Order: sequence, then C-alpha cells, then structure tokens
Amino acid sequence: MKITKAVIPAAGLGTRVLPATKAMPKEMLPIVDKPAIQLIVEEAVRSGITDILIITNRGKGLIEDHFDRTPELEHNLSSKNKTEMYNTVVDISKLANIYFIRQKETKGLGHAIRCAKSFVGNEPFAVLYGDDVIIGENPACGQLIKAYDEYGLGVLGIKEVPENDIHKYSSLKVQNLHDNIFKCTDMIEKPQTKEEVLSLYSILGRCILTPEIFDILDHTAPGAGGEIQLTDAMRELTKLRGMIGVDYEGTRYDMGNKLGIMKAQCEQALKHPEIGNDFKKYLIDLAKTL
Ligand code: UTP
Repeated sequence: MKITKAVIPAAGLGTRVLPATKAMPKEMLPIVDKPAIQLIVEEAVRSGITDILIITNRGKGLIEDHFDRTPELEHNLSSKNKTEMYNTVVDISKLANIYFIRQKETKGLGHAIRCAKSFVGNEPFAVLYGDDVIIGENPACGQLIKAYDEYGLGVLGIKEVPENDIHKYSSLKVQNLHDNIFKCTDMIEKPQTKEEVLSLYSILGRCILTPEIFDILDHTAPGAGGEIQLTDAMRELTKLRGMIGVDYEGTRYDMGNKLGIMKAQCEQALKHPEIGNDFKKYLIDLAKTL
C-alpha cells in the first residue's frame, strides 16, 4: 500500500529550550528564515506524502497560523509588487492537506501518536518528529518509505550516537542486511546500564509504522521518565513482526536542544543563497578572535 499519510508530533513541552519555548513552540524555531516544522513538512511532501496530521497542544496556535493563508500580509506584499515573497508566503499554505489534533495531556511520544488513530485508519504511515530536522538531497522519509516498499515491515530511521550519550536515546539490536539497511530485533528506551545497551544505533527522528501500533499503544504502560514511550510499543511491534532500520543519508539537527539549534543555524546560514557569503566572512573573522 502506498504511504501518503504522515504524523508530526509537536506537542512536547520543549523544556530543554526554555525560556524560548515558554510561549513559542520549539517546532517554530527558525533555521535562518524557515521554521523547523516547515522544513519537516517539505521533506514529507518531497517523499510523496499528501496528508499530514500535526499533533499539537495548548499554545501551539502559531503552527496552525503558519500553514494558513494570511490575507493582510499577502495584500501588503502584492500591492508592493513583492511577487517572489508573495508566492513564498502563499505556497506554504498549499504544501499538503494539513490537519491538527490536540494531545490533551503531555503523556509522552507514544501517547501523542495514539492521538492519530482515526486520521491514520488502517494504513501504514510515516512519523516525522517535530523537533528533528533532516537536511539532504534525498529526503530521509522517502528513504524509509522505499525500505517499507521493499520489506513490507515497519521501518526505523537510525543513526549511531556517541557512547556517552546513548543513555539519552533508544538503543537497538540490529543486524546488517545490505548497505545501510538493517534488521532490528530488539530495542530499549534510555538504557541505564552498560549491560542494557544493545548497540549505539538509535531511532532518530523518523519511522514508518503499521496500524497495529495503535492496538499496542492502547496497553503500553508508562516507561522511562513516566511517559508512554513509542519505543516500548515499537519493541512489541518488532517482536510481533520484526522491523527494518535505515541508516539514512542526510544531516540531522536536533532542534530540541540549544547546541543542536545553533549547529543548524550556523551550517545552514553558510549555505543560504542570500547571506551565505557574508556569513562565511563574518564567521572566519570571528573565529580568529576565539
Ligand atoms: P521530546 O522528548 O524531545 O520533546 O519529544 P519534549 O518533551 O518537548 O522535550 P523536553 O525534554 O521537554 O525538552 C520528541 C517529539 O515528540 C513530541 C515533541 O513535540 C517532539 O517533537 N512529543 C513529546 C509530543 O508530541 N507529545 C509528548 O507528550 C511528548
């Protein structure tokens, strides 16, 4: 079955980026001039996704506004013949069919995904984490969809993380099938001891899930941090059917922590057509003073 639906969980509290995220969703933090969530929606669309459900909560109205029309701004831009910017602004509202639902309590990523049940129905679907931006020629979500088409199983976007950091992430038991494609047979969220670490491969930012995940989430108990963890439900799906891991191409930026935000800003500013050259000169001069 062709994958056309995606879910973007964006209902987290963003406590690691406070106070910036007190009133503004972290998913709206810009990378130069585009909010993170727009880059994520664009990646989904480039991967063949037509319908996107964004999971929000109180105080995330800015996300809805960003994908809506803005008559006053559009009128202002068109009356001043700023055609290029007018098109840029209008095109955002035409990217895909975008729907919103609220996660009424912040009970974890697994709980957020459970909110997508009626939107998804009985189809496989993509999940793009709202604070993970992945930049690359070949959209990461599309790379996972290709693996789903090949194996007909749920697919995890995976990358190796530094040994010292694995306790903050999930850890996967994997076996290489070919190239960057792995079979995953077990996983654990936030391993606390060395013995619990299955490998340094972790699920980072993207996955393809089959609808069985909703029945599993119905009985998934709170796990690490007292949250209903998607990893715990995916572990059960893995035991039931197995899952595929794709060590995807592309640069991932974690917009949920301060250093990740600054790396994204800096690297993408260097590539920006309008300010790239000036920013590079500025950075070289600045580096000399460090
Ligand atoms: P994180 O664990 O990074 O989000 O979840 P968080 O809770 O906002 O982070 P901190 O620790 O407080 O800084 C990964 C993704 O899952 C979403 C987040 O919005 C993020 O995109 N999420 C998390 C939900 O939608 N609902 C939740 O209950 C938790």
